[in-house]
Order: sequence, then structure tokens, then C-alpha cells
Amino acid sequence: MAEPRVTIIGATGAVGKVALEVLEQRNFPMSSLRLTASERSIGKKIDFRGQSITVEATTENILSESDIAFISANDDISRQLAPPAKEHNCVVIDDSGVWRMDPEVPLVVPEINATDIVNHKGVISIPNCSTTPLAMVLDALRPEAKIVSVIVSTYQSVSGTGAAAVAELSQQAKSVLNNDPIEVEQYPYQIAFNLLPHIGSFNQNSYTSEETKMLNETRKILHSPTLPVSATCVRVPVNICHSESVNIQFEKAITAERARQLLSNYEGVIVVDDPTENKYPTPIDCAGRDEVFVGRIRQDTALENGLSLWIVSDNLRKGAATNAIQIAEELVKLNAW
Ligand code: A2P
Repeated sequence: MAEPRVTIIGATGAVGKVALEVLEQRNFPMSSLRLTASERSIGKKIDFRGQSITVEATTENILSESDIAFISANDDISRQLAPPAKEHNCVVIDDSGVWRMDPEVPLVVPEINATDIVNHKGVISIPNCSTTPLAMVLDALRPEAKIVSVIVSTYQSVSGTGAAAVAELSQQAKSVLNNDPIEVEQYPYQIAFNLLPHIGSFNQNSYTSEETKMLNETRKILHSPTLPVSATCVRVPVNICHSESVNIQFEKAITAERARQLLSNYEGVIVVDDPTENKYPTPIDCAGRDEVFVGRIRQDTALENGLSLWIVSDNLRKGAATNAIQIAEELVKLNAW
């Protein structure tokens, strides 16, 4: 069977680099791999499967010579490149927020809605990195009892902003410890030794764009257009992994034990939940893993038929690169590229 020609746009970025690792680890079938980035990276060499690949300029021409393109650069690049890619029959798997809510674009977490891929018209979006783990947990639990509402507070790492934010956190931490002046570029305030309840831009209803994504994208992925979801998204001084404190109200009671069982049986979810042994997921333990980790599962004391739980997931892997490559694997399986 023919293998696709693959291009990663944004190959030098936080997600792009992990995408290379994941392609290698999963032995993704490809006849060629090309890498692009911004002007400043053109000519850089990146090793892949024992070969050295030279980073190229991001051009429409590359799309005309590709069958599948992963785009993880910025919103403008996704906006500009998806339409010409379609014309060249190159399927785009896009990591930006630009196309996710377009009714023609499937928004896919393969464990939940892989079947949506068959309807693609040239662009498939992956969800926001904090939405994917939440949607998987809700999908695992909903066969037991209908979900009435979801309240979620996130603790999102700086790698979600990109490589420059990871460097800024380290630099600021050093400056604080050395009593040097702090330089702030990536966020409105210092992130080292701080928390910022602000991810994205503020909307008219005072929720942020990130919080609104969690509402709209969860509804779209789960095919539950009216599901109430209220999110508070917080940036934390952690390098990798987004964590989430979630309170879910169900139509009927569901025990913590039953929730543990359902989550343990769900593909791609691992339950780490033994308070007597201080066992629960943490970002440091979950970084570099493809699974979504869940712990602190307990009866909610404020909500009728409610459960509280804690989720941790690597935002660069299942939150981005791994999910994108799983979609590409489905495309190959369905011969839909
Ligand atoms: P570069 O490394 O050359 O700046 P991150 O999310 O970590 O900030 O990474 C963003 C990725 O998108 C990087 O690979 C970056 O390349 C790439 N990128 C940023 N701006 C552009 C652009 N205008 N054209 C193509 N690639 C871009």
C-alpha cells in the first residue's frame, strides 16, 4: 500500500519537536518527511530515523508535494495554509484554534469520535490541549449516567504557550533566585512563582478564549451541543502537562468505585488513585506519556449526584502531537488521505 508524504509545519516548535518523536516511536508509515518553520530556522538540521532533515521555508509549494501536513505554528499560518492545502489534496491536521468550530471540519479525539474523520473535507482539527483529556474522561463516564453539568479549573503548563514561554519560565526563576530584575514578554505578568488566571483573550462575557474553547470544543467532540461546561483556565509555572480539577454532576448517582472502573477500562486513560499511599497523578510523573491520568476520584460534597476528580495529561503529547498522529493513523487505516 502506498505511504503518505508527510510535512510538519512548525517542526522546530514545542509541539513540532514532540511530533517528530511520536512519529518515530509509533513507526508511522511515510514515504517522505519534510519539515518547515519560520525564516530563522531555515537550513537547520534535524535528525529523524537516522537521517538528517533540513528545515525548509513554509511555502504553498510544499503542500502541493505532500499528502498529509501537520500544522502547529500559529493561527495566521493555519488560516493561510489550510485552503491551498485542500486545493492540492493535502490533508491538514491542524493544531490551531482557527478551524475547530467550522462545521465542515471534524474536531477529533480518536478514542471518542474517530468516525467523524470520514467526513473530512481536507482539514481535521485537533482540540485545545486542555479539552482533550476532559472530553476523554467525560466520554468514559457518560455511559453510566447522563452528564448534567461540568465545572473545571485548569492548571496549564507554559509549554502550551510555546518554546519561548518555557525558556522565559526558566529565566525568570533564575532571576528571582539571584535577585536580578525580571523580564516579562510572554505573559502580562511574571509566571515564575506565580499563577495567572488568564489564558487567551477576554471575551465580552468575561470568560477567556481558552475557557470558551473548553465549552464549545467539548460539546462538539462529544456531540452534546447543549452540555453546560464552566471553565476557569489558569497558567501555572510548570513546564509540561496540564492538570484539571473537575466537578461533574450526573443525572443519577455514580460511585467513585464505578467511576474508577469505567476510567480504567477506557482506552488511553490510566487511573492513579490511592490516597492511603499518597498516589495521584502529578505533572512531573505524567510528562512524556501519551495517556490521560486520573486520580482523587471522590463523591462531590456540593453537587447532587456529583463526582470530583483530578486529571493530568501531557499537553504536548495527547494534548497535541500524539492526538494529531493518531488521527493520521486513522486516515491511513481508512485510506482517506
Ligand atoms: P521557529 O522555531 O523558526 O520560530 P512554538 O509553539 O514552540 O512557539 O513553535 C512555533 C513553531 O511555528 C516553530 O516551529 C516556529 O518556527 C514556527 N513558526 C512561527 N512563525 C512562523 C511563520 N511565520 N512561518 C512558519 N513557521 C512559523
